[in-house]
Amino acid sequence: MRIAVVHGPNLDLLGAREPGVYGTATLDDVNRALAALAGELGAEVEPFQSNHEGKILDFLAGARHRAAGIVINPAGLGHTSVALLDGLLAIAKPFVEVHLSNPAAREPFRRRSLLTPSAVGVVAGFGVDSYLSGFRCLHNHLQRADAEHR
Ligand code: DQA
Repeated sequence: MRIAVVHGPNLDLLGAREPGVYGTATLDDVNRALAALAGELGAEVEPFQSNHEGKILDFLAGARHRAAGIVINPAGLGHTSVALLDGLLAIAKPFVEVHLSNPAAREPFRRRSLLTPSAVGVVAGFGVDSYLSGFRCLHNHLQRADAEHR
């Protein structure tokens, strides 16, 4: 089972970007930890990062043929992008929203996510562990869904 992991804008700067908020792990560290977890679960991970909304939409459209579900850290786009929500709805794959920080505990404009109402679930505030928990939970969710359809 393949799960795509999408990292939105500015997450390429992880490690250097506001380490007090987002931690010191780099994007490569996150992707390595995800690959190790996927190996343990007997799953595959396909990571993707872009600072460009359109590139993320193109990736999602292509990933619908390969991925059973999506873990996404939409970064700033989660607060603003109807196009990203539409892209996720268009591919009709279960997705889990993750955040390194806890946006609800930060500035008021971060409290709203356009994606959350359509997500299977949300994991926020645990740094790299948000991604790992989100991946594990989505993997379990997809396996249960598979078993129910058999
Ligand atoms: C973030 C939280 C967002 O509010 C912010 O715009 C980000 C990162 C997080 O992982 O904590 O870029 O998604």
